[in-house]
Amino acid sequence: MIRADLVIVDAAQLLTLRGPAPRLRADLRDLALIEGGCLAAHSGRIVFAGRRDEFEAEVVLEDGADVLDAMGRVVMPGFVDAHTHLPFAGSREAEFARRMSGMTYQQIAAEGGGISATVRATRAASDEELLDTILQRLDRMLLEGVTTCEAKSGYGLTLDDELRLLRLALEAGQRHPIDVVTTLLGAHTVPPEYAGRRDDYVRLVIEEMIPRAAAGKLAAFCDVFCEAGVFSADEARRILKAGRAAGLRPRLHADQLTPGGGAELAAEVEAASADHLDHASDEGLSLMARAGVAAILLPGASFCMRQAHWAPARRMVDAGVAIAVATDLNPGTCNTESMSLMVALACLSMNLAVEEAVAACTLNAAVTIGRSGTIGSLEPGKQADVIVLDAPSYLHLAYRPGINLVHAVVKDGRVAARERRITYPEPA
Ligand code: NIG
Ligand code: FE
Repeated sequence: MIRADLVIVDAAQLLTLRGPAPRLRADLRDLALIEGGCLAAHSGRIVFAGRRDEFEAEVVLEDGADVLDAMGRVVMPGFVDAHTHLPFAGSREAEFARRMSGMTYQQIAAEGGGISATVRATRAASDEELLDTILQRLDRMLLEGVTTCEAKSGYGLTLDDELRLLRLALEAGQRHPIDVVTTLLGAHTVPPEYAGRRDDYVRLVIEEMIPRAAAGKLAAFCDVFCEAGVFSADEARRILKAGRAAGLRPRLHADQLTPGGGAELAAEVEAASADHLDHASDEGLSLMARAGVAAILLPGASFCMRQAHWAPARRMVDAGVAIAVATDLNPGTCNTESMSLMVALACLSMNLAVEEAVAACTLNAAVTIGRSGTIGSLEPGKQADVIVLDAPSYLHLAYRPGINLVHAVVKDGRVAARERRITYPEPA
């Protein structure tokens, strides 16, 4: 018999996503769905996910076990948001309004706005203020069904401030149910005090930020904003190779606003992911497929930037690239925690099937952050990170855009949110 301290019974659809990771090509549509399925967990781990009759035959509830009746709802893995700029202070709604009336992102950046504006606000914020904002953001993410996220630094841009952002993101992850995986993005932009000395800044990233972040175990990954006017492919290559040598796996903001050989570079350095890719070349995509580099699609950024060009998601799937979908949560180009909105945009504007978008937000996203052994699907042995949707079918994620359908969130086998209310820490 299998002992359980938490069970979820009678799902209309239990999306287990059992099977190969990452999901590629036609397999990306395979959610390994069980109608009327049940799930059981013990000590934070999944011990059963399967049919009702097997559940009844095999699972016994411990005294005091938590029983959630899904009552005909969807039960699926918690969302894994594999690309966020979680730690930042301030907001940029005035800049947003200027963009709405026709100014470009690059024009605003050239005037000292954009990333630099958030850098000023973030440097000025105390640790307490930053930690507080990060925790509030994590609460909103949890209510949206996110159970693990990646978090980039990138709004400090001094050695101390970059390390501080990584430390605070990790501390927030310790205090909050959501698991946080950190990425050093010291190369987000050249800060104003290095104007005219960009090579000195690249050296600061390579010689000081990377070694300190690695030695302090403050980051698992290293990222660069590779874009015309920001960091060139050559600079990105130097930084990512230094990161890799220090034990930080490369990721890359690639081909977002203009084509710049980002996909090719990501393949060359065998990055864990290349992200954005709105302007990626076909050649770059096939190199990525061959090198096993995942593409992280950020449809919210294309949407909020009103891009004419969206990442060629269908071509990626056809080329055999592993795709994930994430929010890009940041104060400039996509200020939202909503993963279900990303599913809707990925379907409606990138032509993914809903099944593909769901796999891209869970199992494939977990692969890109090196966690598919423990999260991303509902299989015995994995963390019990599970969400219940207030809908009879996962199709509602795209069919009802902008609506938070998340009814309950189970994190590490404990109910962390229910009926749109945070329930951790449990009342004594
Ligand atoms: O992913 N592209 C670079 N970084 C962010 C935007 C940062 C900002 O505008 O503050 C992004 O879109
Ligand atoms: Fe980003």
